[in-house]
Amino acid sequence: MQEKSPLKIDQFELGPMANYIYFISNEKTKDAYVVDPAWDSEFIYEQAQKQNLNLKGMLITHGHPDHTNGINALLKHIDIPVYVSLDEASFYKPICENIIDVKPGESLTMGDFEIKLLHTPGHTPGSQCFYIEAPSQTYHAGDHLEFVSKSIVISGDTLFLDGCGRCDLPGGNAEIMFDSIANILMKLPDETVIFPGHNYHHQHCDCLSNQKKTNPYLQYDNLKQFIAKRM
Ligand SMILES: [Fe+2]
Repeated sequence: MQEKSPLKIDQFELGPMANYIYFISNEKTKDAYVVDPAWDSEFIYEQAQKQNLNLKGMLITHGHPDHTNGINALLKHIDIPVYVSLDEASFYKPICENIIDVKPGESLTMGDFEIKLLHTPGHTPGSQCFYIEAPSQTYHAGDHLEFVSKSIVISGDTLFLDGCGRCDLPGGNAEIMFDSIANILMKLPDETVIFPGHNYHHQHCDCLSNQKKTNPYLQYDNLKQFIAKRM
């Protein structure tokens, strides 16, 4: 029988663009980070209180407003750092006093595990994914999520289930996106469960090994084909 991991992922769909907001929490310590607080900060704060979570910070996958428009309202409830990639375009940086610019390869410790910040530009210059390897245990469950894996990644708008983020918005770059997917995300362990930034699929999450079979953007081994499809 598998032991339950202290790592818990909660996924909430909020707003008119089907954004996913996440809590990454440690069920033992109740320490937690909220990913991409947007659309309904009251709801997000209430959910954190309901679980007695000790919110340590906000993790921002990228600066598009549909992922960041709840930051300031949430800061009125709780004064915590807001982690944004150092490389995010100035015109996408959320405007607030609590911003901490993070560099690729940095990580945040949550007791039994750490959250690694993977810089995955392409959708925006400062897009980042959050990767976690569980300790020895392997079973995770959120409210409506059940999955078995030793690792997870919250992929923002870099990678969707059976899709990937647009590269035609200001700051986007399909060539760089190809590199982020091929050289960073594709190299994560196959069992890694992907949690995307939007609900664009009938599944809430899926493992990388399945996505390698069904996601067209993970099938291209050359840049030209990828760009032709993406653009
Ligand atoms: Fe986006």
